[in-house]
Amino acid sequence: MTGKVYIGVAWPYANGSLHLGHIAGCYLPADIFARFQRMTGNEVLMVSGSDEHGTPITITAEKQQTTPQAIVDRYHKEHAQNMNQFGISFDLFTRTTTKNHKETVQDIFLTLKDKGHIYTKEIESFYCETCKRFLPDRYLEGKCPHCGKEGARGDQCDECGKLLDAQELLDVTCKLCGGTPELHTTEHFFFALSAFESKLQTWIKGKSYWKASVLHFTENWLENGLRDRAITRDMSWGIPVPIKGFEDKRIYVWFDAVIGYLAASKEWSQKQNDPSKWKAWWKARGVKHYYFLAKDNIPFHSLIWPSMLMGYDADLQLPYDIPANEYLRLKGEQFSKSRGLAIWVPDVLKKFDVDAVRYYLSINMPENKDTNWAWDDFVAKNNDELVGTYGNFIHRVVTFTANNFGKIPPAGPANKEVDAKIAEASKDASNAIARCEFKKGLKAVMALAQFGNVYFDRQKPWELIKTEKEQCGFVLHHCLRIIQALAVYMTPYLPFSSDTLWNMLGHEQSIHKAMWDDAQTSVKVGTTLEKPKPLFKKLSLKDFMEEAEDPFEKLDLRVAQVLDVKDHPQANKLYLLHLDLGALGKRVIVAGMKPYYTKEELKGKKIVVVSNLKPATIRGVKSNGMLLAAEDGGVCSLLDPGDATPGSEVFAEGTAHQPAGIVEFEEFKKVPLQIGDKNRATYGNRALQTEKGIIIADKSMKKGTKIL
Ligand code: MF3
Ligand code: ZN
Repeated sequence: MTGKVYIGVAWPYANGSLHLGHIAGCYLPADIFARFQRMTGNEVLMVSGSDEHGTPITITAEKQQTTPQAIVDRYHKEHAQNMNQFGISFDLFTRTTTKNHKETVQDIFLTLKDKGHIYTKEIESFYCETCKRFLPDRYLEGKCPHCGKEGARGDQCDECGKLLDAQELLDVTCKLCGGTPELHTTEHFFFALSAFESKLQTWIKGKSYWKASVLHFTENWLENGLRDRAITRDMSWGIPVPIKGFEDKRIYVWFDAVIGYLAASKEWSQKQNDPSKWKAWWKARGVKHYYFLAKDNIPFHSLIWPSMLMGYDADLQLPYDIPANEYLRLKGEQFSKSRGLAIWVPDVLKKFDVDAVRYYLSINMPENKDTNWAWDDFVAKNNDELVGTYGNFIHRVVTFTANNFGKIPPAGPANKEVDAKIAEASKDASNAIARCEFKKGLKAVMALAQFGNVYFDRQKPWELIKTEKEQCGFVLHHCLRIIQALAVYMTPYLPFSSDTLWNMLGHEQSIHKAMWDDAQTSVKVGTTLEKPKPLFKKLSLKDFMEEAEDPFEKLDLRVAQVLDVKDHPQANKLYLLHLDLGALGKRVIVAGMKPYYTKEELKGKKIVVVSNLKPATIRGVKSNGMLLAAEDGGVCSLLDPGDATPGSEVFAEGTAHQPAGIVEFEEFKKVPLQIGDKNRATYGNRALQTEKGIIIADKSMKKGTKIL
């Protein structure tokens, strides 16, 4: 029986690159599930998007001295691209800054208000006298009242995962200026969550099939009593409160983001040219709604969003299951964008095959407890399991068959043992995946690969070929049947290599059009087999640990503005430039620009500097950085960052920015910066840019001119 499966996946904040914690936490499990559901004949609608409002965004914008809009544009683009590259098969990956989203949120807000689920109340909120502003939760920092950890945010403690009320924080400080904020009165809208308590209790009673951790967490919350929640904030970035007198306030990011699940479904319908299509997913009975997320997001999905749905329109589907994952940790520490400790998806995509990473994340998925990303374990599992067991079985069978038969040989008599093993893998894997037990599902598929190796070894085709060629062909045929089944059952986990494998076996369509049961159809006897390229690569820890060092990533390039220019007291070609680097402060550098620019030309000019170069003393004056300029014969040209703000970052698209302390000049010299087309400053073939746009040489320069 086929049906409809709706899959909502937590919306990543568009304030930094994705890391492997995000992938393991929700995107990969959701994708495995979605691909599997499609293969069993269910219709799937899987949506998510960038979470683009709230203080996570404004804080990042302030740090990078740019606008929230520039931040979300940059990271939404990157997220959408990375999801695609990672094979996360969304039907729609949108963003919360669309018109459709805003209208949906405002409609829900007003409807809930009309129905009496939203009311206003005056509250005390932290206000910073120095910064002259109210401080939203994330602008507050202090000690967690539950676990005592310093550095807890005003809304949540990352250490123990508890949600906090800013006023519970101990020793609270303003994140902007470090000062001590005071409580001032302000009026906000509240969502009457407490009124949903008994409805939620009844609803949760039917959820005994939920993961124990999710169920306990939710029941605990309910037992502790639900509190009404402020759903507006004193800030200017976000969805406006559609009510007179509240023009200065914005809807709280969490209230806004969860509505994305419904709004995205509407947007998807519009894109399908059937604007009411979403109703078949939200209002029809029997559609199962799954939500994938990591554990810190549980209450928003298991209590708050369901209450909002109940209050807004009782016809809407509530979550069916919320198989939240625990955390993937890096050497025991949680991956976290905000603390800069992570393995970044754009980096990973550059260095490894996606399926290798998907394999390790799947076999090591934090389904029921936190797990660790350990590089040596990644290498070991890749080499021993993916290459050694799975890849090796495929490789030896296909190579041997290609060499000795050139094509897929006929089946001969039925082979009950092989039939049974394939059927067993199908059953075990599909049962597990359907229950969101992805590790178990993968192990069931790997067990079939192990059996394949055992069968091959036992039958010894390399001996049979000498004496009984026909019999040997039968053995290989059955091995190829196993391989065909592996290709199908691995598709949810390893979508890229499975497709290659499928085509190798003579199927012309993509495996992504195949169904789960196609695994057991007969293989295409007579298909030409060529000696295959290995599907997976062995890894050596040493290789990629060294290769991981892209010297560009360590440079901290910044926009600087020249405040003043002085002559160097000891040298007639050198100037002393007094620079403003915004948040990085003011500093002096020594620069050999005197033959090329007058003081007047330089004063007020914006330039690009390497801000973390080891300071050098040049003719008796200390230089705290170096400016970037292109030089060709007698002409020298400074790089022009346009109207970017002093202090803002300069990056190359697709390159991580991980300044690692101080960089030596020798290291800097290894980074090939040059002038590309149309006077653009480039690294490799990527344009150097700021949030405001690309960087060019301020005088015309030949393509290929070095920048130093
Ligand atoms: N942006 C949130 C986070 O990264 C998750 C939002 S999930 C949503 O923690 F459903 F509310 F969008
Ligand atoms: Zn302050």
